[in-house]
Amino acid sequence: MRFSAPKGSYDVLPPESAAFLAVRDALSRPAILAGYEYIETPIFEDTALFARGVGESTDVVSKEMYTFEDKGGRSLTLRPEGTAGVMRAVIEHKLHAGQLPVKLWYAGPNFRYERPQHGRYRHFTQVGAEAIGVDAPMLDAEVVALAWDGYRALGLREFRLLLTSLGDSTCRPPYRALLQSFLNRLELDADTRRRVELNPLRVLDDKRPEVQAELEGAPVMVDHLCRDCAEHYDGVRTRLADVGVQWEEAPQLVRGLDYYMRTTFEFVHSGLGSQSAIGGGGRYDGLSAAIGGPELTGIGWALGVDRTLLAMRAEDIALPTRSRVQVYGVPLGAAAAERLFVLVASLRAAGVSADLAYGGRGLKGAMKAADRSGAAYAVVLGDRDIEAGAAALKDLRSGEQIAVPLDALVATIQELLS
Ligand code: HAM
Repeated sequence: MRFSAPKGSYDVLPPESAAFLAVRDALSRPAILAGYEYIETPIFEDTALFARGVGESTDVVSKEMYTFEDKGGRSLTLRPEGTAGVMRAVIEHKLHAGQLPVKLWYAGPNFRYERPQHGRYRHFTQVGAEAIGVDAPMLDAEVVALAWDGYRALGLREFRLLLTSLGDSTCRPPYRALLQSFLNRLELDADTRRRVELNPLRVLDDKRPEVQAELEGAPVMVDHLCRDCAEHYDGVRTRLADVGVQWEEAPQLVRGLDYYMRTTFEFVHSGLGSQSAIGGGGRYDGLSAAIGGPELTGIGWALGVDRTLLAMRAEDIALPTRSRVQVYGVPLGAAAAERLFVLVASLRAAGVSADLAYGGRGLKGAMKAADRSGAAYAVVLGDRDIEAGAAALKDLRSGEQIAVPLDALVATIQELLS
């Protein structure tokens, strides 16, 4: 029997895995620079957390969850997204009792049973950031700008920021009723009619051209914001302009999760085909109460690491690479190998990354391995050199070679690398 990775999942393999880590780090770095602290929550949570938090009517909850019963009879679900778990942890550990906003970032896998295609997986990785407990427009602008900065730092240029406001519990219900009465006047199929009742906003996101044609002139939320929401949205846009972030108004933007209100956004990239969203987020001021917590506002985003990598490829941006090690030991003989084994340990203890050729490879094979490792220097040592007390230190870029006393090797290498 032969196994392969389950459908819709993938392996992150070297050497591309270095780019995966670099992208993850670059996307989280702006948040770290803004004082966001790292949080890790379980990969599975109580199923009801997602049903209540993300919303029963969403595709994510109704169709895509990996739900199972554990041996204790609990219904658990592999997390389809990170925000509900982070909010659960904040409430459970009363992080909001301290200074506000609570600023957190995270990175890790999520699971959705979607139809796999280019850029859409059942197991995918996000970097996320959440700012909880303050509802100032300036904080919204900070959150959005941090995502913008992450993409720009990676060299991405062909992405757009779509921005809108989804209103709040004051202005959304009357807008929803208005939209429903508009939609009820249209010729729609039975499925779509059902959606009009359940979640009329999602009908605006229908991809079928014939439905889109009917939607011409549909009322949009931004034209019906209450005073507070309109002021909030104006504030967000002013502050975004202050820090040079460019956005497009996207009154029809519909997100796949139900917890959003007010500021809502998505980053889309032109090189990805239909799965164009490389990241998205927004305000979720009702989430805490929906999962049994106190009234607690929040805003955040999650950026797709996999799709960001695809976007970089689409823009021909050289993916970040990393040398495996700085120094590579090439032993010629068993006694030399034992000596180099100790030497690489001392190098590592001194903070220099080092490896050596294992398995008695001979000069040619070991030098090839040294080149492949990306090392700057090779230490070549023969059994006879041990008596003489010196090894050959070879600069792998220039090919130059010098003899260095064994007891001076660590210091010499440190000096050369500094
Ligand atoms: P989301 O829009 O569902 O939001 O996902 C965010 C990003 O994760 C997407 O823009 C996309 O790049 C990536 N992503 C989602 N599903 C897949 C998939 N099947 N395959 C590959 N990549 C995918 C959230 O998850 C919210 N929790 C974001 C948030 C945080 N809102 C507030 N705080």
